[in-house]
Amino acid sequence: MNDRTVTVFGGTGFLGRRVVRHLRKGEFSVRIASRHPERGKKLFGSDDPQLQSVEANIHDERSIADALSGAYGVVNAVSLYIEHGQETFHSVHVESAQRVAAQAHRAGVERLAHVSGIGSDAASPSLYIRKRGEGELAVRAAFADALLIRPAVMFGSDDAFLTTILKLLRRLPIYPMFGGGLTRLQPAYVEDVAEAIARALQGTETHAITYECAGPRVYSYEEFLRAVAHESGLKPTLIAIPFAAWHALAWFAEMLPSPPVTRNQVELMQVDNVSSPEMPGFGELGISPHSVEEILQEMLWDH
Ligand SMILES: NC(=O)c1ccc[n+]([C@@H]2O[C@H](COP(=O)([O-])OP(=O)(O)OC[C@H]3O[C@@H](n4cnc5c(N)ncnc54)[C@H](OP(=O)(O)O)[C@@H]3O)[C@@H](O)[C@H]2O)c1
Repeated sequence: MNDRTVTVFGGTGFLGRRVVRHLRKGEFSVRIASRHPERGKKLFGSDDPQLQSVEANIHDERSIADALSGAYGVVNAVSLYIEHGQETFHSVHVESAQRVAAQAHRAGVERLAHVSGIGSDAASPSLYIRKRGEGELAVRAAFADALLIRPAVMFGSDDAFLTTILKLLRRLPIYPMFGGGLTRLQPAYVEDVAEAIARALQGTETHAITYECAGPRVYSYEEFLRAVAHESGLKPTLIAIPFAAWHALAWFAEMLPSPPVTRNQVELMQVDNVSSPEMPGFGELGISPHSVEEILQEMLWDH
């Protein structure tokens, strides 16, 4: 039995809830920290004495410090995909990421895994990608041995990526592609990424490492759509829609309460989302990643 506690900020999210499960399998005690702790209780029940849900907001120093009290490790899996009011990419991905790292350092936490994204780059012209890059630098400045986890776009049964594509492929007679469908992507299975985070925290290597977690195959966006359609027995007609048209559409869509597409998403679809061969990843953590086709078959079988 492991009496070490790991606090997971964002432990109720798409990735975070899996990180919680994989950490428990690795016999860590886990403290799930989010703004809505009742979601943690609903997700995980209250039978496991090694699992605790606490209220915390990473914009608030005091609540971070409370959530970290006595912890051995911390995972920051908090997201922000659309800016609104005070919730900006800078406030969440740079300032608050730095705040979590600084509080972890101050509390004497031994291990920090900060979840970022493949392609994070402080010099990128895209605001989102730039803020993810600045966030990584700010985290390392506050906690020198921080582990940076950069997932590729992730898929899983309750994702917003593969399930949306599948739904649209089934409904639309003609599928509009982002640009010419040439952007490269290497989707990662969310359970594999969660296992990677748990193993990285269990490992004996305690110095700063950046892991890029990407799936077994690189696709062009068009190849990906065709692969998903093939697995699902569909034969869609794909048409190229120029990125300028997507930007205009997203600009209008952002006026809606829950926009189906945002300019930030369009910008992300213009940049390749693949791992660099020289960076450590699943292989170094002893994980053989699942393919989209494999998981899609399971998902289709379940429905
Ligand atoms: N999904 C992907 O394909 C993908 C790909 C690459 C990288 N990533 C990165 O992976 C990480 C996790 O993403 P995800 O898709 O799993 O996110 P998600 O499903 O949106 O979950 C976000 C989590 O963060 C919590 N949260 C949000 N704001 C918070 C705050 N101010 N203080 C404390 N908790 C807060 C949310 O709970 P409450 O709302 O209750 O607070 C929730 O538990 C992010 O860094 C994301 O950028 C994701």
